[in-house]
Amino acid sequence: MSKPQAKQMSARAAYGRLWRDWLKPHWGKMLLSMLLMALVAFASAGYAKFMEWVIAGLDQPDSGVIWWGPLGIIALTMTRALASYANQRVQNRVLSTVQADMQKLMFKRLINMDLAHLLAESPASLATRFSADIELIRNATTHVFGSVRSVLTLVAVIGVVLSIDWVMALTLLGVFALAFGPIGLTGAKVRKLSTNTQKEIAHMTEAVNEGLSGIRIVRTYQLEDWVRRSSDAVFDRLLGLRISLIKWQAMVTPMVEILAGLSIAILLFLVSWRISSGAIDLAGFIGLISALGVATNPARKMAGAYAIGLQGMAALERVYELFDVENTINDGDFSFPEGEKAKGDISFEDVGFTYPDGHQALHEINLTIPTGKTFAFVGRSGAGKSTVFNLLPRLFDATSGQVKIDGRNINDMTLSCLRNQISVVGQESVLLTGTVLENIGFGRKSADRDAIIAAAKAAAAHEFIEKLPQGYDTPIDPAKHAFSGGERQRLSIARAILRDAPILLLDEPTSALDAESENTIRAALDDLSEGRTTLVIAHRLATILDADQIVVMDQGRIVDQGTHDELLEHDGIYAELFSLQFDLSPSNGKRRNSKSFSSPRRKRGMMERISRFFGGSDTA
Ligand SMILES: Nc1ncnc2c1ncn2[C@@H]1O[C@H](COP(=O)(O)OP(=O)(O)OP(=O)(O)O)[C@@H](O)[C@H]1O
Ligand SMILES: [Mg+2]
Repeated sequence: MSKPQAKQMSARAAYGRLWRDWLKPHWGKMLLSMLLMALVAFASAGYAKFMEWVIAGLDQPDSGVIWWGPLGIIALTMTRALASYANQRVQNRVLSTVQADMQKLMFKRLINMDLAHLLAESPASLATRFSADIELIRNATTHVFGSVRSVLTLVAVIGVVLSIDWVMALTLLGVFALAFGPIGLTGAKVRKLSTNTQKEIAHMTEAVNEGLSGIRIVRTYQLEDWVRRSSDAVFDRLLGLRISLIKWQAMVTPMVEILAGLSIAILLFLVSWRISSGAIDLAGFIGLISALGVATNPARKMAGAYAIGLQGMAALERVYELFDVENTINDGDFSFPEGEKAKGDISFEDVGFTYPDGHQALHEINLTIPTGKTFAFVGRSGAGKSTVFNLLPRLFDATSGQVKIDGRNINDMTLSCLRNQISVVGQESVLLTGTVLENIGFGRKSADRDAIIAAAKAAAAHEFIEKLPQGYDTPIDPAKHAFSGGERQRLSIARAILRDAPILLLDEPTSALDAESENTIRAALDDLSEGRTTLVIAHRLATILDADQIVVMDQGRIVDQGTHDELLEHDGIYAELFSLQFDLSPSNGKRRNSKSFSSPRRKRGMMERISRFFGGSDTA
């Protein structure tokens, strides 16, 4: 995120929060799981104690040990196995639910997040939080919570050993304490490595995504080697990190093995002394050996859980980061009563805007757009036209000055009220998963089928929709891009017609449509903007000529404003843009309406027109 790297949170803080926010609501199931784990622990440790009894019973012929011995072992192992199975199911249910809840909340946060924050990180990197990070958290939680069972088993084992011989018990405790010291030392290293690994996984997703989404360009320009080189570098870095991570993580297991060996060595060393002094007998000895056998596995698991738990913290931090981003675009209080709308009078007062990266894109914008008028925005690429548009629905907030609708600061309105006053027809009409009907219906949530079809007709979209396999009920798969540019535009116009908002933001497509589509779409747009306050980023001459006012922008400022003729007379940037970008030679007069600002220039015709306009004689 755009925030500076927050300092690492402590393990207690990270897992404490996991417990408070996510696990606690499931405390009933967690408690059940703990009880089951306790059962497993006692059955495991009980095994050692039981062995002591069995061996002791062998000395007494009438003890019946030949029967209750084996039966007892079966009962203990069955209890252990069944409790373990039940525990896994309960735990898994809780953790999977938590996992899904986290994903839902993360998505909710993302979808509501300020654009400034959202744009600070690539979508691919954000997406890894849903997969790699969440998976790691789940894995870590399973291990950390599961180590409750290991702790209980160890406590029970120590209890059993204590009941057999307290000297042994103390010795064992000492050995454990010694062994966990070095294991702890590996922790800091593991944690740092796993933070870097998670970041690198995000980079990897970005790299793959970039290569694939740009595949057409990659193929055409034969950039395969180029994209492969940069993604190979990411894969290699990831490889390096994984190798170091495993190096440190895997150290834990041999440490525990050594711990187990050490315990047995000490035990053997002590045992003859304890036996000769009469402190323990053969039965006690067997009990101790069994206890050690039982203790090795939980000790190893605990150490493993420690390493994985640290890895989970790196992921937890990344996920909390998303939960904690504070929105700076906050709701105001005002909203119109049911059924009422704004008139649509817009004013910009000394508006300045600086992008989060520090780039000042707008300076002192002052502009009043009366209700129902159409203002065309023109200017070079990067002049700030789209930025002005983004301020109206508050995708970003002006960093200075005020934007007002009907004289009311837009920051004082609720976001939903504000956005209900605005419809947008963009260059790229965005289609979402759903049917054609639903995609138009997004314009107004309460619209019924008839209203949607009426809007589609007004947008000249009805005809092509009818031809679709299931008409209005044809499902749209956004990944497949099944619609042409013109069709998409018509769908988005239909959406805007349905919305029936007093303000229309229109970003004209630069891409050329065929003349027929162009005319139908233009007619639909004219109808749409009728009676609405319309701001249009204009690329077509016809749009510019039809506008009530033309606003000329340059380097984040409004440098001129007026009608077409007035602006030409000013002989400023407008005249320059106009002359450079429109082909106005008489022979092309019929087609000039379909010419775009971006179309190829034809110098000769243009010069003729300009010189005629200014009455010059140099090129005549
Ligand atoms: N998200 C962003 N972060 C930082 N700077 C940005 C961002 N978006 C745009 N800019 C910069 O702000 C300036 C104005 O951009 P804007 O998109 O408003 O221009 P425009 O007039 O719409 O250009 P075009 O005609 O090419 O669409 C440009 O210099 C651009 O590089
Ligand atoms: Mg733009």
